[in-house]
Amino acid sequence: MQNGFSIEFLEGDGRSQQGVETFHFQRFKGGKIVNEATLKTHQYGEIYKVPGLYEFIFYETLQCRSHTFMVGMLEKALRQEENNGLLKSTFLDFGAGTGLVGEELRKIGVERIIGLDILPRAMEAYQTAGGTSYEIYLIDNMSNPKKQTVQTIMEYGPHVAITVSALGFNDVPPVAFNNVLSFLAPNDLFAFNLCSKILENGQAEYNEVISALEGCRKVEFLDKQKYVHRYSPGGKEILYHGFVGKIIEPISFNRVE
Ligand SMILES: C[S@@+](CC[C@H](N)C(=O)[O-])C[C@H]1O[C@@H](n2cnc3c(N)ncnc32)[C@H](O)[C@@H]1O
Repeated sequence: MQNGFSIEFLEGDGRSQQGVETFHFQRFKGGKIVNEATLKTHQYGEIYKVPGLYEFIFYETLQCRSHTFMVGMLEKALRQEENNGLLKSTFLDFGAGTGLVGEELRKIGVERIIGLDILPRAMEAYQTAGGTSYEIYLIDNMSNPKKQTVQTIMEYGPHVAITVSALGFNDVPPVAFNNVLSFLAPNDLFAFNLCSKILENGQAEYNEVISALEGCRKVEFLDKQKYVHRYSPGGKEILYHGFVGKIIEPISFNRVE
């Protein structure tokens, strides 16, 4: 191979329903191997180090379509008359990674987006790829964000928050998600997705978050859809649920010290 990637998945489909696979990749430039490693699909810090690897694994090889699907779900809600004005407001893309969700938001006409991720390498990967979708890209842990991060987000004043493929699997803890929602005001919108297995096994912490949000009537869910997030290396469908909701009452910020 002259340029590009070759990838081999080393673990069968046994664990892939959990969305974690082990793979070996090689990156070629001018016919030579320039990067090579064995990684797990959730080692984002390592994956982001290699330009284009994230997109190659998840989007080209495993046909992930959550970025388009979730932005499509959100767009449907935004096109409703009562939510239409929000299209011109600031959006917050939480767990922004290499910026694919930001690109989709730009395609539907969103002009101001804050990208936010916990990993500096996510922002570096976005910048290396020449990303221009975000007005600003913040690096912080929303479980316990710095005052400066909170202040910056408040100055931008987002009215829509989206988080795609970042919740669950010990990635984003519920408190961080709660804190993202706390930046929104009544009638603002949010969208997120979660692996259907997490929801259906009835034990996971995110079930509690969703029931709590529904139960306390601080949010109203406008849309919920089950869809194919991506495929496992062996071609099995990995199903996710997408949610779009509206804030009814302000959600309080919860700092974890
Ligand atoms: C699977 S990637 C999804 C990236 C992007 N949303 C997409 O759809 O391509 C999950 C992202 O969530 C980020 N993440 C994990 N925990 C986080 C946290 N506590 N706060 C912010 N981002 C976090 C990871 O660093 C990673 O970039």
